Amino acid sequence: MGRVDGYLETERLMLRRFTDGDVELLAGLDSDPEVMRFLTGQPTPRAEIERVVLPEILKAYGDHPQLGTFAAHQKADGEFVGWFGLQPTKEPRTVDVGYRLNRVAWGKGYATEGTKALIDKAFAELGMERVVADTMAVNHRSRAVMRRSGLRFVRIFHEHFDDPLPGTEFGEVEYAVDRRTWEAGRRA
Ligand SMILES: CC(C)(COP(=O)(O)OP(=O)(O)OC[C@H]1O[C@@H](n2cnc3c(N)ncnc32)[C@H](O)[C@@H]1OP(=O)(O)O)[C@@H](O)C(=O)NCCC(=O)NCCS
Repeated sequence: MGRVDGYLETERLMLRRFTDGDVELLAGLDSDPEVMRFLTGQPTPRAEIERVVLPEILKAYGDHPQLGTFAAHQKADGEFVGWFGLQPTKEPRTVDVGYRLNRVAWGKGYATEGTKALIDKAFAELGMERVVADTMAVNHRSRAVMRRSGLRFVRIFHEHFDDPLPGTEFGEVEYAVDRRTWEAGRRA
């Protein structure tokens, strides 16, 4: 694994940029229907990872060098646990935070640990004014990560999907934290 392209470290995780050698890691992650349940509802074919998913991740580093999708590894043994992302949005100084972990890495607090660290980085280092996140209303594990990371419920909204996943009828939820609230939380 090398420490090349390291992006961020937390107590237990190391985040780094993906490289073109990471097809297997991403394909393994997206091969679990439980991981994909609230995303596409099905495993992503390996060929799509190789031709679309990974190339888009790599291209985004060039477009926004401080943002993107980052592979997360346990510092203790180097094991790949999944990814975290900070993506640009249409709003200025506003980024979207996201995460996707292998099922064996659930239930350890990793998602909250990584998300908190990305939010801190967005405000403290990247000069952002707002961090947002969204997920399906029925994705309770993800909503719990948002709450534990200091994001607050903003709204529920409905989008049209040609091939909706079960639960789409309950809508999507948006959570967010702005700089002032983040700073107040740090002083508390
Ligand atoms: C969403 C997702 C990242 C949540 O993972 P998670 O492991 O439940 O979230 P956390 O990292 O915050 O872990 C919290 C759990 O770890 C437990 N935990 C164990 N050790 C812990 C520690 N040292 N610190 C904190 N929590 C700990 C908590 O008690 C909690 O358990 P619970 O779920 O039984 O209440 C994961 O389910 C996932 O990858 N899903 C598929 C992808 C997806 O849906 N992504 C979001 C789409 S927007």
